[in-house]
Amino acid sequence: MVSTAAAHLLFFLISVNLIPTNPLAEEQMFQAVDGDAGVALGKSRKRVLPVPHTQEPDPISEAYGYCNTPNHTEQAWEGHSPADYKLLSVQVMIRHGDRYPLYSIPKTKRPAIDCSLSINRKPSHPLMTSFISHMGQGGRGHWESTLGSVPRLPNHSACEMGELTQTGVVQHLHNGQVLHQAYKHHNLLPFDWSPHQIWVETTGKSRTLQSGLSFLYGFLPNFDWTKLTVHHQWSTLFCGSTCDCPARNKYLEEEQRRQYRLRVADTELERTYADMARTLGLLTRQLRAANPIDSLLCHLCHGLSFPCVPTGETGTGGCLTMAQFAVIRRQQLDDEVERRRVGLYHKYAILAMYPYLNRTASKMERVAKSSEAGRRSRAGGEEVFTLSSAHDVTMAPLLSALGLEEAKFPRFAARVVFELWRSPPTTQGLPKKRTSKGDKSKAKDGEVFIRVLYNGEDVTFHTSFCRSHDRHASQPLCPLKNFLSFVRRDMFSVVNATSYQEACYKRPG
Ligand SMILES: *[C@@H]1O[C@H](CO)[C@@H](O)[C@H](O)[C@H]1NC(C)=O
Ligand SMILES: *[C@@H]1O[C@H](CO)[C@@H](O)[C@H](O)[C@H]1NC(C)=O
Ligand SMILES: *[C@@H]1O[C@H](CO)[C@@H](O)[C@H](O)[C@H]1NC(C)=O
Ligand SMILES: *[C@@H]1O[C@H](CO)[C@@H](O)[C@H](O)[C@H]1NC(C)=O
Repeated sequence: MVSTAAAHLLFFLISVNLIPTNPLAEEQMFQAVDGDAGVALGKSRKRVLPVPHTQEPDPISEAYGYCNTPNHTEQAWEGHSPADYKLLSVQVMIRHGDRYPLYSIPKTKRPAIDCSLSINRKPSHPLMTSFISHMGQGGRGHWESTLGSVPRLPNHSACEMGELTQTGVVQHLHNGQVLHQAYKHHNLLPFDWSPHQIWVETTGKSRTLQSGLSFLYGFLPNFDWTKLTVHHQWSTLFCGSTCDCPARNKYLEEEQRRQYRLRVADTELERTYADMARTLGLLTRQLRAANPIDSLLCHLCHGLSFPCVPTGETGTGGCLTMAQFAVIRRQQLDDEVERRRVGLYHKYAILAMYPYLNRTASKMERVAKSSEAGRRSRAGGEEVFTLSSAHDVTMAPLLSALGLEEAKFPRFAARVVFELWRSPPTTQGLPKKRTSKGDKSKAKDGEVFIRVLYNGEDVTFHTSFCRSHDRHASQPLCPLKNFLSFVRRDMFSVVNATSYQEACYKRPG
């Protein structure tokens, strides 16, 4: 027998939307943790970063925003810069698109959704037919570790748990196409790009792999498979070989305890779970462990009515209601507010995302160096485009680490984009005749700048490293050096350290 408290804790450990600590365990536990369930879905309102004085978010319209239904177009500010700036590189992190639930609600029918692809089903996309046929040639690509055996398209007429849906494919074909449009005038990639210039990485789940391929197809239609290598990130934190960080685990556990305490103190939430359980004829803790919000969100996003059970037998019968859904979502939004106030999650996020940010920063620095005038670029070119196909448990800490705490929780097919730009060369000094080898006037390289975008909105000046940057005509963008010193040192100040090593291993003071 487990005590009620222990049962709660157990539920809590498997259901909160945070990460277990060891990278292998993350993979194994992934089914249990990628639920968008234990976590708040973020701030409301239309803008990514809402203006402060607005009223309480409406949990239902918030949920529709999370679905990211591809039925309208949104402004995308990727690729915008002052005139004559040169785009040097682009690094994108995406969250996978719409997926089938990871949990089912006992005693109810699973939502009837077809995960095979068909141009006769909505939503569809003009690229769908050619995409399906191109994926059929995926055997010609290079696949790291076991990725080659992951299906490259969703293809079950009754979706499997966690499977990407057609909506998810369309969301990412669309994302890829939006960025293709945004960058096509900037000559980011030459027509005959070389294998070195593109880096694609994904976790081992079919929904991330398929989302990455959908994005890539929208971005580079009919790309040459033989030039493509798809890399495998074992950890959902994309931390490669530097995942060990004991202090990160400690912050995570504290954060989970905070989240648990807030939830059990919410009497309206507890009453709602009890009501739902009574309707279905379940124990309250069985219902809670089934993470009903995950399945209900799927119903909502697909326009399906919430599940019902007949009267009689064990439960009182009836349907789960929108009002109950709204209570669970309201609590998730409260949790987000509390999470920001307490700050443990931010500390966790700093340590969780350092390895990814360090890699991002190093790539930018390398590309910036090789673009300096007079340098010979390496054969095959630098890596100018990176795609990381990830999960909510990757993107949420990324946003927090960047200081974008007010950003909405990552919706399906959310995207974070890092752009690197160089300003036009300036001419130094007076155009005097120089004695050296017939130089006319010595051009000095322009400076390098970073832009950060979230779902198409420019959030650069909301990040920790550029919030207080003094924008003016000669520096309308955020200098790359701000980002570099943030990643290499300044970001650790919230945990009273100056490096990752120190922050991860120092004894609690
Ligand atoms: C798109 O779909 C969502 C969810 O069904 C709906 O709330 C929204 O009004 C729709 N938008 C348009 C422009 O049709
Ligand atoms: C999907 O699966 C069916 C049955 O196995 C197969 O006939 C079909 O070719 C598959 N479609 C795709 C696009 O892989
Ligand atoms: C950070 O990046 C540098 C340069 O690429 C690399 O040498 C170093 O190992 C990285 N550190 C961590 C902890 O990832
Ligand atoms: C970090 O430093 C601040 C100010 O010096 C101090 O108030 C705080 O207790 C320190 N925190 C830790 C975890 O050592």
